[in-house]
Amino acid sequence: MRLILLGPPGAGKGTQAQVLVEELEVPHISTGDMFRAAMKAGTELGRQAKSYVDKGELVPDSVTIGLVRERLALPDCRKGFLLDGFPRTVAQAEALDELLAGLDMALDAVVNIQVDPEVLVNRLSNRRTCRNCGAVYHLLHKPPASPGKCDACGGELYQRPDDHEATVRNRLEVYTAQTRPLIDFYRRKGLLHSVDGEAEVEQVTVEIRRELGL
Ligand code: AP5
Ligand code: ZN
Repeated sequence: MRLILLGPPGAGKGTQAQVLVEELEVPHISTGDMFRAAMKAGTELGRQAKSYVDKGELVPDSVTIGLVRERLALPDCRKGFLLDGFPRTVAQAEALDELLAGLDMALDAVVNIQVDPEVLVNRLSNRRTCRNCGAVYHLLHKPPASPGKCDACGGELYQRPDDHEATVRNRLEVYTAQTRPLIDFYRRKGLLHSVDGEAEVEQVTVEIRRELGL
């Protein structure tokens, strides 16, 4: 299955992706994770991305599209993929269409996870992420068993620099201006499935499964 998870920052794309990729046995392609890995490794890509990511701005389309083009060409994507956080602009969505046409592939579905902006600010300021494996926690809804430590690998939990409130508000504005138009873009193509992202995590998964006929 070739799937896109669409939604504002903090909607739960990463959380749902972790469950869905296991079930669908397809690679999880998160451009945000790819940029953070490059920043941690100190590569040229990481250096380019850092100034944008830290401010909550989008990394330029040319850089992002190039990154996804290389990733989708890898053999593990032949059985399908789940895109999380890409596309995020109409230009990226159009580039993705062209890219897939060139690979003789088509999208199966776009899942739009809907959450109210005020809920998002709360979710992101309470999110903690494992420095080692990237697992995601929430101080209230999904706390780790022992404070500050990842349940999965024992790694240190940290707050993403772009999860501080001022940056979160900027990310939400960027989403409204640049990413929200994709809801109509995919609705017109007949690919859009919207789910209520304010329900419990497990309930959201159930709704996504039902929308996808899994
Ligand atoms: P990215 O990493 O993609 O960030 P994002 O889209 O802002 O999404 P998040 O990771 O913040 O949220 P999520 O929806 O995955 O939510 P999560 O599951 O973690 O991008 C970061 C930056 O990279 C961008 O700002 C940009 O600079 C750059 N970038 C990335 N892609 C790009 C692109 N295509 N083009 C240009 N630039 C790009 O959940 C959030 C919290 O809520 C967690 O604590 C979780 O435990 C909790 N939670 C989840 N679901 C529920 C629920 N149902 N109920 C209660 N709590 C929940
Ligand atoms: Zn971990």
